[in-house]
Amino acid sequence: MRTVITGQLPASPPPPSGEFGEVRIPAPPTPLSRERLLEEVRGATAIVSTLNDRIDAEVADAAGSGLRVVANVAVGYDNIDVSALQDRGVIVTTTPGVLTDATADLTMGLLLSVTRRLGEGERLLRSRAPWTFELGFMLGTGLQGKTLGIVGLGQIGRAVAHRARAFGMNIVYTSRRRAPEQVEETCDAVHLSFEELLRTADVVSLHCPLIPQTRHLIDAQSLANMKPTAYLVNTTRGPVVDEAALAEALSAGQIAGAGLDVFEHEPEVEPRLLGCDNLVLSPHLGSATKETRNAMTQLAFDNVRAVLRGDDPLTALP
Ligand code: GLV
Repeated sequence: MRTVITGQLPASPPPPSGEFGEVRIPAPPTPLSRERLLEEVRGATAIVSTLNDRIDAEVADAAGSGLRVVANVAVGYDNIDVSALQDRGVIVTTTPGVLTDATADLTMGLLLSVTRRLGEGERLLRSRAPWTFELGFMLGTGLQGKTLGIVGLGQIGRAVAHRARAFGMNIVYTSRRRAPEQVEETCDAVHLSFEELLRTADVVSLHCPLIPQTRHLIDAQSLANMKPTAYLVNTTRGPVVDEAALAEALSAGQIAGAGLDVFEHEPEVEPRLLGCDNLVLSPHLGSATKETRNAMTQLAFDNVRAVLRGDDPLTALP
């Protein structure tokens, strides 16, 4: 039995042992190159992967017929060819739930940063440029009474809705399937079509998974449909936004600003975005708290342990 952990782990929990068989944590540099990934997974019974690893038929074949589980330490799984794995009898698990609060908190952080111009303010101070308090100085936009448009009312979208309600925002949402009435009630959220949401929202926050239908969901046309005073926040996956179109819209003042935690070609960032002052950036930190990363890692290990014991994993994909 062999468990291969593709990325570096947070300080705790300790790497699994015993029932995980031989545990292999490849030495840095990580993320592993494709070549190293294919080499490292050879003979694996379990792979604990991160969103940097493309886990597909080639990786499953490189691991061999003993592969039983791929435990992705993330809630998103666009890096995994789920059907290729399931066709080979491999169970795929993810880490939903444990990262909901951290990601919703970071979303609010970006939303506040961009609407209150915190990035600009910090850059100003660090540049040592002269400044003085004045009534008209660096004015941002208040959230109270404004409308937050949530794209995807899953666990994270709902957690963002609850936070935004506490800030006095009104909530509208759009999603492939309308949420149950009770969810709409607890989130105080009104269902709209995607187009209506774009036209109505003062802030559009993306919480949908990256699937073929959501790739470049926010493109030049969507940006043109947003209010010129509106903000965009993306804490889901970079390719949901067409970065070139966003850079264009931000530079032209077509929307008021944006907050991005994720990028189309991570770790690269579209160079034109870096020149936009009305943009707040963070390097994919949605779930990056010690508590959350530990909980994610622990959940991935618990899933592997369950599968290797022959029990039902906790959070397997259907
Ligand atoms: C992080 O981006 C995740 O999907 O968990």
